[in-house]
Amino acid sequence: MLKFMSFAMKYWRRYILCFFLLVCGVLVDSLIPQVVKVLIDDGIVAQKYEVALKLLVMMFSFYVLRGTFKYVQEFVSDTISQGVTHDIRDKVFKHAQKQGGAFFNRFNPTHIMTRARHDSENVGFSFGFCFFFAVEILFHVIVMSICIIRIDPLLATTVFIFMPIIGILTIAEERRGDKISDEISDETALMNKTASQALTGIRTVKAFGKEGKEKHRFANRNRYFFRLSVSLEDIFASFDSATWSLSRIMQAISILLGGVLVIKRGLTLGQLASYVEYVNSLVWPMLELGWLVSSFANSNASARKIKEVLDNYDEVVVKEPIQMLPKEDRTIEFEHVSLTIDGKAILKDINFKITKGKTLGIMGETGSGKSTIVNLLTRFLEPTSGVIRIGGVDITHLKTEELRANISTVTRDIFWFSETIRENLTKGKQGKISEEEMIKLATLSDANSFI
Ligand SMILES: Nc1ncnc2c1ncn2[C@@H]1O[C@H](COP(=O)(O)OP(=O)(O)OP(=O)(O)O)[C@@H](O)[C@H]1O
Ligand SMILES: [Mg+2]
Repeated sequence: MLKFMSFAMKYWRRYILCFFLLVCGVLVDSLIPQVVKVLIDDGIVAQKYEVALKLLVMMFSFYVLRGTFKYVQEFVSDTISQGVTHDIRDKVFKHAQKQGGAFFNRFNPTHIMTRARHDSENVGFSFGFCFFFAVEILFHVIVMSICIIRIDPLLATTVFIFMPIIGILTIAEERRGDKISDEISDETALMNKTASQALTGIRTVKAFGKEGKEKHRFANRNRYFFRLSVSLEDIFASFDSATWSLSRIMQAISILLGGVLVIKRGLTLGQLASYVEYVNSLVWPMLELGWLVSSFANSNASARKIKEVLDNYDEVVVKEPIQMLPKEDRTIEFEHVSLTIDGKAILKDINFKITKGKTLGIMGETGSGKSTIVNLLTRFLEPTSGVIRIGGVDITHLKTEELRANISTVTRDIFWFSETIRENLTKGKQGKISEEEMIKLATLSDANSFI
């Protein structure tokens, strides 16, 4: 997470504003029970209704003030989250755009999309909303605890015994829940894969009469998914009821002890009421603790995954001196070219020379390396050894844009961008090709009749 601090630093002004609003909000919050105390002791018990009315108005204004601080602070902290998410997403996408083939071997597009979308959101969320929520909980607990101790240290002890137990229970709940949630997310992916394979390949499934087998395969996955979901609900139900009961017991004991102190030690009713208010305000931070810890843990994992992508470089390096492609000579030459990926020899000592106007057909069984030869020529892959030349120039000395602009590739699997047909057809030469030329080329390739 710390590696992404620089993304957050950009928003330092908003951090200062949020801190200020947060401190003001918690301080106003801590004043409300004090007003309740005076309202009861000096207004209601003393039967001074005018005083009581004034204090009620004061209490109401404090609530409005608190709400306003909270609203602005949450809004600003959310803008920090969105800003950091936006910047990380941009960085991941720009980084991916610059990389070559080896990078995309390691990270497939879905992988990169998940980093850019989901993981960047997790990290952004932690730097904004979660961070301030954690600070608020800490500050709130400290201020409220001081207020409780000032009323009566003995009463405060009851709260301090229960609070850590409730906090630990909520953390344990999230820990156990997260483990199963991870399994559920893996299982969701598997179930989706099983269903989409069976549905996409439905013709093949039907042709081979394998509907029964596919149904069985899916039913098994679905049953396992159901079991996992039920066990997750079981964890939530049992932990939630335990923390809820404990917090109620804590409140009941506090009221009981408070009552005794009112009778025996002359604690005023107002003090008792403000004490109960403080106790109640210490319950929610404990209940949120588990969620907060798990959010930070998730963001940390996401930050690690994004970093893995950003730390992987496979940018195409153009060697000095940079050369130009000769105008006439377009001889393509492979000289002792070999390629090994992850210890596996893909191509071994490839040598050939094609002069301008000649055609070379390469035949070979699937996986023998035909497409790899084309990928080497366009520098989507780099040879482990050997030299590739066009017009006698080593292609590592050519600007990548120039090299690729001079090579046309027709692939077996076509890919259309979600743009107009015109934009797709002119992708490589946008702005540089006339309408007539485009129509002429479409007619040449027999496509004009159906476009
Ligand atoms: N970027 C890569 N990373 C790892 N292995 C790769 C990569 N590109 C190709 N290979 C491996 O190199 C071998 C040759 O693949 P290639 O796609 O060139 O075969 P092909 O002859 O074009 O096959 P087909 O006839 O099926 O198109 C395969 O074993 C493939 O798995
Ligand atoms: Mg191929």
